[in-house]
Amino acid sequence: MKVLVIGSGGREHAVAWKIAQNPKVEKIFCAPGNAGIAGIAECVPVKVDDVNGLVDFAKKHKIDLTIVGPEASLVVGVVDAFERNDLSIFGPSRLAAQLEGSKSYAKTFMQKYDIPTANYGTFTEASEAKSFVKSNGLPVVIKADGLAAGKGVFICKNDADANAAIDSFLKRGEFGEAGKKIVIEEFLEGEEASFICISDGTHVLPLASSQDHKAVYDGDQGPNTGGMGAYSPAPVIDDALRDRIMKEIIKPTVAGLNAEGRPFVGFLYAGLMISNGVPRVLEYNVRMGDPETQPLMVRLRSDLVELMNTALDGKLDTFDIRWDDLVSVCVVMASRGYPGHYEKGIEINGLEAAGRVTGSVVFHAGTALKDGKIVTDGGRVLGVTAVGKNYREAITNAYEAVSKISWEGVHYRKDIGYRALNRK
Ligand code: AMP
Ligand code: GLY
Repeated sequence: MKVLVIGSGGREHAVAWKIAQNPKVEKIFCAPGNAGIAGIAECVPVKVDDVNGLVDFAKKHKIDLTIVGPEASLVVGVVDAFERNDLSIFGPSRLAAQLEGSKSYAKTFMQKYDIPTANYGTFTEASEAKSFVKSNGLPVVIKADGLAAGKGVFICKNDADANAAIDSFLKRGEFGEAGKKIVIEEFLEGEEASFICISDGTHVLPLASSQDHKAVYDGDQGPNTGGMGAYSPAPVIDDALRDRIMKEIIKPTVAGLNAEGRPFVGFLYAGLMISNGVPRVLEYNVRMGDPETQPLMVRLRSDLVELMNTALDGKLDTFDIRWDDLVSVCVVMASRGYPGHYEKGIEINGLEAAGRVTGSVVFHAGTALKDGKIVTDGGRVLGVTAVGKNYREAITNAYEAVSKISWEGVHYRKDIGYRALNRK
């Protein structure tokens, strides 16, 4: 069979790497892909939100199955367009993807279906937003309603910060359309976890648990990024908590979306805050996480294509999903300046040596091929992933591989997995 992967990040490299292990897959295409994906797939220059371009490509190359990585494709309706053309594709429809595409939609939905989340208000007027903050107290979390690549969220501890954030969205329009409406919510304390499931619209299976590190610097300091590292499993989620999350959050979400006439087929990701054992939803994503997918794919024993096809047949209740007992850790190596401005086109050294480290796989994110050399082409450049018998061993293996790689200005966190180590 022929498979198309949409996207160009570390998540898509990990997905393509896993799909390539299925003996029935003769050929993988990736739109647009990166230099690492090019080693196992044919990369094609079609943008992730070019719906017509993707449909035309899939028709022309008789693609049997398409997998969507990023939300940017889903919110513009790539799945709906493929289905109209009788092309098999795995991911939620445009309407179901609103759960990530609009935070105010997600909050209203959670309120309606009694899904635990922070208290909130929705605003389009700066003065009303400011009085809400005054009457509800600090700290507050202020978020752009629409997609902002992980950069549209401000945690504000005082009035000055809250007013500045509100003005940047509603007065200065710094986040464009995405920030014309904002959600202001109560600040929740606790430990975050990524709870990713696969849904066929009716049945839903949790994947193994995972956790990412959003802040750019060690000790979870500095601004948020798309994720500087991740690991699986996440010890904060034990079996009892997993069952509670399924019962109180995931099942009501899938049932609620059905009741709204927006059945969810695809990977559903609840970003959770666990406070004293109580899980609440910070946000929904309608796709797998990046970098969480990298450690998940190296632990997944079941076949990914078979898993997605079973979901497309509506039979997930019959699937016995299997995971490796080993733990896995992914360390993201980033460009100097990320998550702010960064340069591209810098040559990366040591990739081959890193790939030889026992138990490690180097997933590419922002890389490109230039004059036969692999160069940086994004903020998050590589996701160096390794397995081990325990967190200590997986972390050691991952950093051993990281130590072989260098380029001018590379930076990465040195403490990925510290919470898991401290717990065990
Ligand atoms: P979101 O995109 O909504 O997940 O927000 C990005 C990050 O901001 C989350 O991963 C949390 O670290 C933080 N965050 C968001 N909402 C809250 C909240 N209500 N309380 C505390 N932290 C939050
Ligand atoms: N790692 C967080 C995300 O994928 O949204």
